[in-house]
Amino acid sequence: MSPTKQILALNRFEASEGTALAPELAERVAKRQATFGASSVLFYKEPIEMVRAEGVFMYDAEGRRYLDVYNNVPSIGHSHPAVAEAVARQIAVLNIHTRYLTKPVEAYAEKLLSRFPPPLTNLTMTCTGSESNDLAMRIAEAATGKRGFVVTRAAYHGNTQHVTAISPSSMKSKPVPDFVRVIPEPDPAQAPGGDVAAFFANNLQTAIDDLEANGVGFAAVIVDTIFSSDGIFADPPGFLKSAVDVAHKAGGLFIADEVQPGFGRTGGGLWGFSRHGIVPDVVTMGKPMGNGFPMAGVVTRPDLLSLFCEETGYFNTFGGNPVAAAAGSAVLDVIDGEGLIDNARDVGAYFKANLLTVMGNRRDIGAVRGAGLFIGLDFVDDDGRPDQGLATFVINAMKERGVLIGAAGLWGSTLKIRPPLCFSRENAEFFVETLKAILADR
Ligand SMILES: Cc1ncc(COP(=O)(O)O)c(C=O)c1O
Repeated sequence: MSPTKQILALNRFEASEGTALAPELAERVAKRQATFGASSVLFYKEPIEMVRAEGVFMYDAEGRRYLDVYNNVPSIGHSHPAVAEAVARQIAVLNIHTRYLTKPVEAYAEKLLSRFPPPLTNLTMTCTGSESNDLAMRIAEAATGKRGFVVTRAAYHGNTQHVTAISPSSMKSKPVPDFVRVIPEPDPAQAPGGDVAAFFANNLQTAIDDLEANGVGFAAVIVDTIFSSDGIFADPPGFLKSAVDVAHKAGGLFIADEVQPGFGRTGGGLWGFSRHGIVPDVVTMGKPMGNGFPMAGVVTRPDLLSLFCEETGYFNTFGGNPVAAAAGSAVLDVIDGEGLIDNARDVGAYFKANLLTVMGNRRDIGAVRGAGLFIGLDFVDDDGRPDQGLATFVINAMKERGVLIGAAGLWGSTLKIRPPLCFSRENAEFFVETLKAILADR
C-alpha cells in the first residue's frame, strides 16, 4: 500500500473534479487560477473567501463564522490586539535591517534566548521556517563536513531547494536525493513491543550506517518534534532522548524543527523538545513566532554558528527587523500573560479525552493521540487500514458546519487538530459534537 495523495495536495480544490460552484465563485476561482497558475492551491471542494478573523474564529465574505481548528500561525488568536498594536507602533517609527544597533531587536533576542537551555545562546533571525531549516542544514554541513540528512518519511521542512530535498511529503514524482535517508514515523503501533524510543533510535542508526557506508556521511537528523505532517506523534515524552544519543555518537547533529510545536502548543513548555528533556544542537522556528507577522529564526550554539560563518557569510534583509522583534515580543508576552501554555495543556487534555470517548468502540476511528492543542485522529476503514476518503469527507462536512480542519499523515487519513492556543473547553465541545453528528449522519 502506498500513499495515494501527496500531503500538500490533500483537501485541495480540484477543477477537474467538476464540483458545481455558484457562478460568482466559479469566476473568482478561475481568475485566481489564471493569475497564480499551477502553484496556487485552494482548500475545499468549494473554496471560501475569508475577510476577517478574531480569536478562534474566521469570517467569510458572507459573514459566516468558522471555528478555526486548523491554522497554526495565529497561535495566540487571530488579529491579537497586542501584536497589531506592537507592529503598528514600531512600523511608524523605524523598520530597518539588522546592521544597525536597534533596541527592540536586542531586547527581543535576549527575551527569546532566555527561554532556551544554556548552550543555545545564539539567535539568527530569518523570515520563514524554510529559511531557518535551510540555514540549519548548512550549519550541520559546516560542523560535520558531511552532507547526509535523516528525516521521517512524511516530513515537511519547507520549500527551498535544499529543504525540499528533506521533505518527502513534498515529492510528487521525484525520489528523495542520494544524501537523504527516510525513516518511519515514531508510531507506537509499528514499534516492536510498543517501544517507540528504541524503534526510532534503531531506525536512525540504520539510516546513519547506510549514509556512512555509501560515502555520503551523516550531518544531522532533523525532526519536527511533534511529527505534524507524519500524523502527530508526541508520546511517550522523552522518546527522542535515545535518538539524540545516536546522532551524537555518530558525530552528527540533532536539529529540532519547532515550526509546528514551538511557542507553547504542546502544553509542555514553550518548545516541543522540552517535553523530551533533550537539548538539540540547532532549533528552528517560524509560523507562530510572530502570530501572522512573517518572522522565523534559528537558535544554536556559538561554536556551531561560528564554524558556519567561517565558511559562508549570512545576511537576511528582512530577518530580524524591528517590526518583527516587536511582533515576536508581543507574542511571548501574551503567551505568558494569558497563560496559554497551561491552557494548551488543560484544554488539550480535555479535548483529547472527549475525542477518545467518541472513538469508544467506533470502527472508523483507529487512534487519537497528541499533546496539548495538537491532536491527531486516525480514520480507518473496515479492515483497519488508513481511510483518506473518510478524512476528506469529514473535513468538507466540518466546513459546511462551520469548523475548519485539515489532514496529515503518510496516508492523509489523520485529522490534524491544531486550533489557536486560546481555544476553550466550549470550543472543544462544539468540535466534538460536530464530529459526532457528521459521523452519525454518514
Ligand atoms: C515543520 C515545518 N517546518 C518548516 C516549515 C516551513 O515553514 P515556512 O512555510 O514558513 O517556510 C513548515 C511549514 O509548513 C513546517 O510545517
